[in-house]
Amino acid sequence: MNDQPTEFATRADAFAASEDSPANPTDAQTFGNVVHTRYLGRRSVLKGMTAVAAITAIATPMATLVSRAAHAAAKPFAFDEIAHGVDDTHHVAPGYSADVLIRWGDPVLAGAAPFDPENQSAAAQDGQFGYNNDYVGYASLPFGADNPDRALLCVNHEYTNEEVMFPGIGRQDKDGFPQMTRGLVDIEIAAHGGSVVQVEKVAGKWRLASDRSLNRRITADTPMRLSGPAAGHDRLKTNADQTGTRVRGTINNCAGGMTPWGTYLMAEENFNGYFWGELSDDHPEARNYKRYGLPGNWYAWGKYYDRFDVTKEPNEGNRFGWVVEVDPYNPTSIPVKRTAMGRFKHEGAETIINKDGRLVVYQGDDQRFDYLYKFVTSGRYDPNNRAANRDLLDSGTLFVARFDADGGLAWLPLVFGAGPLTPANGFHSQADVLIETRRAADLLEATPMDRPEDVNPNPVTGKVYVMLTNNSKRKAGDADASNPRGPNTFGHIVELSPPDGDHGALTYKWDILVLAGDPSDPASKWGPETSSNGWFGSPDNCAIDGQGRLWVSTDQGSNWPKTGTADGIWAMETEGPARGSGRMFFRVPVGAEMCGPQFTPDDRTLFVAVQHVAVDGAKAWPPFGKNSTFENPATRWPDFDPKLPPRPSVVAITKDDGGTIGG
Ligand code: FEO
Ligand code: CA
Ligand code: CA
Ligand code: CA
Repeated sequence: MNDQPTEFATRADAFAASEDSPANPTDAQTFGNVVHTRYLGRRSVLKGMTAVAAITAIATPMATLVSRAAHAAAKPFAFDEIAHGVDDTHHVAPGYSADVLIRWGDPVLAGAAPFDPENQSAAAQDGQFGYNNDYVGYASLPFGADNPDRALLCVNHEYTNEEVMFPGIGRQDKDGFPQMTRGLVDIEIAAHGGSVVQVEKVAGKWRLASDRSLNRRITADTPMRLSGPAAGHDRLKTNADQTGTRVRGTINNCAGGMTPWGTYLMAEENFNGYFWGELSDDHPEARNYKRYGLPGNWYAWGKYYDRFDVTKEPNEGNRFGWVVEVDPYNPTSIPVKRTAMGRFKHEGAETIINKDGRLVVYQGDDQRFDYLYKFVTSGRYDPNNRAANRDLLDSGTLFVARFDADGGLAWLPLVFGAGPLTPANGFHSQADVLIETRRAADLLEATPMDRPEDVNPNPVTGKVYVMLTNNSKRKAGDADASNPRGPNTFGHIVELSPPDGDHGALTYKWDILVLAGDPSDPASKWGPETSSNGWFGSPDNCAIDGQGRLWVSTDQGSNWPKTGTADGIWAMETEGPARGSGRMFFRVPVGAEMCGPQFTPDDRTLFVAVQHVAVDGAKAWPPFGKNSTFENPATRWPDFDPKLPPRPSVVAITKDDGGTIGG
């Protein structure tokens, strides 16, 4: 790994700071004069939109939309905030229990080997829970039952931290791990992807069900197919797949979503990091790959597998960066990469059924100065015919957001032939637009954001919440209305208001809900009304409970010494006088990141995922003061067994009196 950024102790640090590839290289020409281009660009964009707008208008019976019934007011949060801080274990608010449900290495498939970290193998890992659990989805059992006590948990495994996974591997240097082997690479490949695990609540506590018939492991080697407008395109063909429709595996699955028809969406995020090799500057894919920072040279997979070496397989990189749809109810179903939803570093893919029956999927592209997207299906969701919804995600319109200084937001369609998306700019089909989604969005003059992470529609209020985690590279003079601070060290949260709750609309309003950081800093918008006046930093994932209340998880990376607290879950006020303030509900152990949050249908359980335990900023934690290794980690959470390493785990949080989470 030759080009590993040297300022980071580990790849995880690079992940946290998104230093994996250059910040959006086009930002220099767009963000320096955002307000100016915002209006200058408007005319050409509108011109380009005409055809699509007409189509969309037909599909959207605007005149027939009815006002949404006023929703019942959400109850105020009623729990005592936990103390901020950092230590070797997790903490939850008084009156709640946080129980570890499943850990890296726990058997998922029937017959899987028990976890033995000293003798781990790819064969064992193939049947066990993978590494770095991130998104947690809840697929009720049976399908459609809204059962709060039994489900298939659908969990992403984003990436691997070798230094605390493998005995004797040591620390990563600028050339990677000197002790890396094919056998270890095979374990890494098996530890990526996702898990589908049947879980049940018995006598108030969650456990893995003894019935494992629906359990599944998906890895970076699982056969999948590509569908939608880019499937079968020449740019997706490789030596192993002359059809351009079959691909092995999914990588760097960060957040995701569930569809109303019970499928699990796995978002491929930092896919660039898995490739190495070189493309000459005049290679047809050079411009495309540069925009995604590919090859990223983070892993040694290319040493053992030609497909991860761009010199040998220059098209393989085009087969990643998509959203993968999985049917968790059928463990032999083939996962599908839905190309219509675009190719970028998808943080997540949260969905909502629009009032007209179309499905809308909100997606952030997590890189500094990259964009916010939504995908609107052409067809309508049929609640009475699950099979009829199977390929809804293959056709529709992908839009990118332009935030205007007047509080308006325009959704710009990424449609071949519209505006600048023409052969003159190197786009010859919709497949080209989707394969190079970022470059297409650059040309439409979308607004470069401060790392768009999870984007959650709120089905109760009709609003949408956008997590923007931070942006160390934004200069003070480059701030704009929707990204008002440079540098943006602690991130912010933007609230979108679709008109009359219409998520298919082409224009919304937007407002800033939170500017995170030091509550005493006038540049923060982070109220002390309901918190203990502590700092809040780097919103990453979020969830909406059944009452429409917002819960936010944080990923500060190695920045946590600045806020004085480990990552965790925050209950965030979105209405009333305390709007924009919050309080801390759960905290992770040292070096970990908070992912997941997912409520059960009755709001009586909150599942959270604790990722890369003992890794981020362990050196800055005074009781430890060095970087973690397998042999000597900052914490051995959750087992605290001297023979076991720290283990990423999913935790089930319940209220001791059986009540609703958050009151
Ligand atoms: Fe994988 Fe953007 O967090
Ligand atoms: Ca994330
Ligand atoms: Ca979410
Ligand atoms: Ca993250």
